[in-house]
Amino acid sequence: MLRAFFLYLSTHPGMQRRVTRMRMTRSLVRRFIAGETLDEALQAIQQLNKDGIRASLNVLGENVTTHDEADAALQEYQREIEAINQRQLDANISIKLTQLGLDLDFERCYERVVKLVEQAGQAGFDVEVDMENSAYTDMTLNLVHRIRDHYSNIGVAVQAYLYRSESDIEDLMKRDIKIRLVKGAYKEPPDRAFPRKRQVDENYARLLKRLIERAPRLAIATHDIRLIDRARTWLRETDRDPASYEFQMIYGIRRDLQALLVGEGWPLRVYVPYGTHWYPYFMRRLAERPANVFFLLRHLFRS
Ligand code: FDA
Repeated sequence: MLRAFFLYLSTHPGMQRRVTRMRMTRSLVRRFIAGETLDEALQAIQQLNKDGIRASLNVLGENVTTHDEADAALQEYQREIEAINQRQLDANISIKLTQLGLDLDFERCYERVVKLVEQAGQAGFDVEVDMENSAYTDMTLNLVHRIRDHYSNIGVAVQAYLYRSESDIEDLMKRDIKIRLVKGAYKEPPDRAFPRKRQVDENYARLLKRLIERAPRLAIATHDIRLIDRARTWLRETDRDPASYEFQMIYGIRRDLQALLVGEGWPLRVYVPYGTHWYPYFMRRLAERPANVFFLLRHLFRS
């Protein structure tokens, strides 16, 4: 219930104005976001790299409504790639297609992604495509498959809460596309997604086992210790090349677990978002954990 309510608020403009004006929100936001500028995010990555953790850099933003905004996002990602390359950071980038104009024109969005994949490829790293809500799944996968016809440094997130993901991963595995397995962060109807958390967790485990056995390139993106435990067991059993997989977590979440995995020698990448358009991302992070929700509600009703 609370999760659904917060996911509803994440798309509500009136609430966006209210929450972004609240002074206390800033400190909570800073827990999940590396800063408002690229420079702050790069400093966070430098620290992660020192701790033996790779990063995936993401500038916040989604559902742009003009080509100018999409081009501005493209330019910011180009700056990111240049900076990662110049500073020799152990990082790649994560992008959202609706931030690069997917709602406006598929072809122009595709062309923007090509530019990024080409530039990142020259610098020697991947571009990972975030998966947004299920209205975009087909378009996102089409675009990623088309990119794969020409470039190999592409990956995409697959959401374990969607029924269709079981067959989507088969197509992605065949094409040697990096798969980032996540549970799924959006509000979805029960005809598309498992409605219960327990079912989502079970499906995650089912897909994870298959991916560990067969996916050429895999990211296990979760903070769920039970799933991480199972992954560690299955990885040891299959004796996979550590260069072919990694764990992934989100900046600011379960730092204790991040340190533990790295201490044990597992490859780990942390997703590092930055920028000023943090509201929908922030609300999705709140929705993931009831304790976060109560914290915000307390302050909302006080202010
Ligand atoms: P779960 O929600 O069961 O949480 C397990 C434990 O982790 C909790 O008990 C708590 O301790 C901790 N935790 C989780 N979320 C927390 C939070 N917000 N605050 C504090 N503690 C928290 N989704 C999507 O739809 N498309 C995408 O492209 C991506 N990309 C992505 C990249 C990476 C690197 C990660 C780790 C996740 C995503 N996600 C995503 C988000 C994903 O779908 C999911 O919503 C979150 O990872 C939370 O689910 P968990 O797997 O962590 O399990």
